[in-house]
Amino acid sequence: MDFALKNADLAAAANEKADALVVLVPEGFKPGTDALSALIQTARSAGDFEGKPGQTLQLYAPAGFGARRVTLAGVGAGLARHVAQAVRSALGGLKDSPVRKLALVLAALDQPGEDVVRAAVLACGDATYVYTYTKAKARASTIGRVTLLSPAGIGRQGVAEGRALAEGIAFAKEWGNRPGNHATPTLLGQAARTLARLPRVQVEVLGPKEVAALGMGSFIAVAKGSVEPLRFIVLRYNGAAKSVAPHVLVGKGITFDTGGISIKPAGEMDEMKFDMCGAASVLGTFRALGEFQPAINVVGLIASCENMPDGQALKPGDVVTSMSGQTIEVLNTDAEGRLVLCDALTYAERFKPQSVVDIATLTGACVISLGGVRSGLFSTDEALAADLQAAGEQAGDLCWRLPLDDDYADGLKTHFADVANVAGRAGGAITAAKFLQRFASAYPWAHLDIAGTAWKGGAAKGSTGRPVGLLFQYLLNLAAKPAAADAVAATRKPGGRRKTAAPVAAEVVPAKAARRTPAATVAAVAAPAVRKTASARKAAAPAPVRARRGARPAA
Ligand code: BES
Ligand code: MN
Ligand code: ZN
Repeated sequence: MDFALKNADLAAAANEKADALVVLVPEGFKPGTDALSALIQTARSAGDFEGKPGQTLQLYAPAGFGARRVTLAGVGAGLARHVAQAVRSALGGLKDSPVRKLALVLAALDQPGEDVVRAAVLACGDATYVYTYTKAKARASTIGRVTLLSPAGIGRQGVAEGRALAEGIAFAKEWGNRPGNHATPTLLGQAARTLARLPRVQVEVLGPKEVAALGMGSFIAVAKGSVEPLRFIVLRYNGAAKSVAPHVLVGKGITFDTGGISIKPAGEMDEMKFDMCGAASVLGTFRALGEFQPAINVVGLIASCENMPDGQALKPGDVVTSMSGQTIEVLNTDAEGRLVLCDALTYAERFKPQSVVDIATLTGACVISLGGVRSGLFSTDEALAADLQAAGEQAGDLCWRLPLDDDYADGLKTHFADVANVAGRAGGAITAAKFLQRFASAYPWAHLDIAGTAWKGGAAKGSTGRPVGLLFQYLLNLAAKPAAADAVAATRKPGGRRKTAAPVAAEVVPAKAARRTPAATVAAVAAPAVRKTASARKAAAPAPVRARRGARPAA
């Protein structure tokens, strides 16, 4: 989706040519003498509209308006989350109308902050995302362009950030949602490769041979039970000087988790296609970085394979040797996430990183602890934990810190290896984190357990795109810190590209990468990896899955 920003007051907004005009109206709105104010006033005095958060009123525009449809959308006191709610309900009401060009009026708001504008843009992306990939008839949203009409000077930063982040979230949602047979490790590797079309993004995809040469015995052991070959994906975003140490993101990329020989019960096992949402969040964050071009260096590592039962599969009691040299007794093959992550964490050491954050749908225990509202946060570093927690609050993509006392690691002791891969049932999210901590001693480290937040079950089953919002915010905050900015400034020619603010549209890009503009890459990256004829798509489509109300938090 394309976003544009225009300076316009309410009078000008009524003339804007569009298929639909969505007007954000606060509860205490003071009407002017223009036509839109009159319309709002009529609705209010008729008792049809007050401006409460989420309240909408769909109208046909009076003669003389530039658009045929007008939706009034209440935003209460105008908080970012209420603006997001308003945009989602307004767009929900228009989803069956042939709206291509939408104008979103911010001019009735009282001095909206950039966070409000950003929330509006993100909500547009959120409301128009439709999963279509394996459906014969589903149609994507018709809305192709959103023009934000705001009072002078407001919204440049918000639109730029929101637009990049919306792309990243949509990318993460899409790959999270694709079924296991349409999102194999190989396909995930190909999806990662498409990101290399973005300026300053490089991607390398390693297969079984290279991973064996690296000595990733733990990761390989999980992959052994599947005929799908594993992939280890290395992404780089170089937005700062080479000399600036990177921040590393590590994603769990289990494209389907049956549990292996310690097989899972059948109920809701389909949801284990979402077990690569950590990986998807890394890909989505790189998409957003590539679009926004902040001054920071980031490395993304994804360990991707299937966890399957098979004659070759890893068995309970097997002892494997990790890349770190530590041996691991695999007491439960369903605790596979930590087995692939530990080798990725060891690999991360070679970047001498400033920080490493892993993101994983790691434990059912975390779903029990925190539900679907906050992701679990664990960290060995106070500053890093505070940065992540703050970024989550800022982005509305929340997390909550859980402890890492050494006593929690007692259950991981075993007679047959350096460490066991599971402890008892008690404190399962924490004992999983304690396992990972053993492989993350070389740098400040944090772990996000997104088992409860990465997707929704029930009638609204689908990937949420979390925690791309948190990760992108965290990285933007780091890029804005003086040390990082100085390092970058030193590498740039005077009069070169901007330091912090990104372009609203695609017209401003780093000179070096001018031929690969974000806009040009959007279509390419968004295009399905496989071109489907109608019949091929039918054949490939899985049987319809009935929505089921399960233990997972629903919408
Ligand atoms: N992918 C699962 C975790 C999971 C389960 C996420 C349910 C979301 C919903 C992970 O690989 C797993 O199976 N973990 C086990 C660990 C146990 C064997 C110690 C779990 O949580 O049951
Ligand atoms: Mn598992
Ligand atoms: Zn898993």
